[in-house]
Amino acid sequence: MSESDNSALNFPKRFLWGAATSAHQVEGGNHNQWTVWELENAKTKSVQAEYHINEFPNWEHIKHEAKSANNYVSDKLADHYNRYDEDFALLKQMDMNAYRFSIEWSRVEPREGVWDAAAIDHYREYVMSLKRLGIEPIVTLFHFSLPVWFAEMGGFEKRSNVRYFVRFAEKIIGELGTNVRTIITINEPEVYATESYHYQAWPPAKHSNYLWWRVVNNMAYAHKRVAKSLHAMNRRYKISIAKNSVYFYAGDNAWLSRASAAVMQYFQDDYFVKKFIKHCDFLGVNYYQSERVYGYRIHNPTDKVSDIQWTLAPADLQYVLERLHQKYNKPIIITENGLADSEDENRQWWIIQSLIAMQRAMKNGVELRGYLHWSLIDNFEWAYGKWPRFGLASIDYKTGDRALRPSARWFGRIIKKIRSA
Ligand code: FCB
Repeated sequence: MSESDNSALNFPKRFLWGAATSAHQVEGGNHNQWTVWELENAKTKSVQAEYHINEFPNWEHIKHEAKSANNYVSDKLADHYNRYDEDFALLKQMDMNAYRFSIEWSRVEPREGVWDAAAIDHYREYVMSLKRLGIEPIVTLFHFSLPVWFAEMGGFEKRSNVRYFVRFAEKIIGELGTNVRTIITINEPEVYATESYHYQAWPPAKHSNYLWWRVVNNMAYAHKRVAKSLHAMNRRYKISIAKNSVYFYAGDNAWLSRASAAVMQYFQDDYFVKKFIKHCDFLGVNYYQSERVYGYRIHNPTDKVSDIQWTLAPADLQYVLERLHQKYNKPIIITENGLADSEDENRQWWIIQSLIAMQRAMKNGVELRGYLHWSLIDNFEWAYGKWPRFGLASIDYKTGDRALRPSARWFGRIIKKIRSA
């Protein structure tokens, strides 16, 4: 499909076209469990980069950044907290009508039980700015960052702590009221649990199967509690988790490959989705990558990988959507989808493939409500720091200048055509 040949694309009028970010990854100037961890670990990470990521495709290009401690400290970033108007203008430039972001809990409740009125006003004004531009706000309540006080009391490891998260959710949604309609309680609970309690790549960097299991279950419980409480405030809130899905497929026809892929898919999706789907009005799906299974091992094709070496298989989005639709029969919003591509070599191709995949899935019965590209702007990619470039818009971290990449300008023209058809 080229730009002139997109007549085949046919999406409903109310389809949500947008992009996503999260507070800690773009706001700058935060103080939370991540910023504490960054300062403690930046030096070590900069020294280890040479050993950990020197096989990445563009190592020569990124090594300068990856070997600098500064890369692992979020610090000012794009200063989205103060410059959000400029970023909303980018959404408008692409003719988008939706934007997913997260509220930074550590700003709203910097000390246990103490609400920061200025921070709450900030987010109220933030949401109102979106509304004035005709952009639907999609709010995430937990996107990996936590107030230091909450992390210090054990975070989601303890069931008795869940009440603090519920209280925060009630407070901020109460303040935003019906200006917000679509809410993601928790972003990728299993990714958070696995990076933080298995791989030790994210704070609190513990290795414990028991804690992993507790965190996963406490998050499912937290989702249920928040969904119930917010629905009691207003039944019309549309609430979900954002579930990261990886697509597993057998690389050959052997019985073992097919069985392993099915088992892996079960543990990727269903093991978790079953815990919370009853309390979801729709399903938020983040899709980035597929895994090819031979026997009981992963062996991926290497022809197309992103800057952080994720296998690029955008067309598989169709199968992810169809499978989740068949299993759970909920409307779906793609809450994240994108790639680290600093040279903007593959992004346009990725988006075309994704649009075709979405279109096919919809033809086959998937009730797809929206597509949110990750990310609106370059941001802090957690353990990798600042060098991976996921943005539709690039950020010059020296000047703070933002500029839509060519693929984003192209995407904007496509969205315009689709929306005016
Ligand atoms: C997802 C996260 C998001 C971002 C992308 C690349 O797993 O939700 O914050 O880091 O990956």
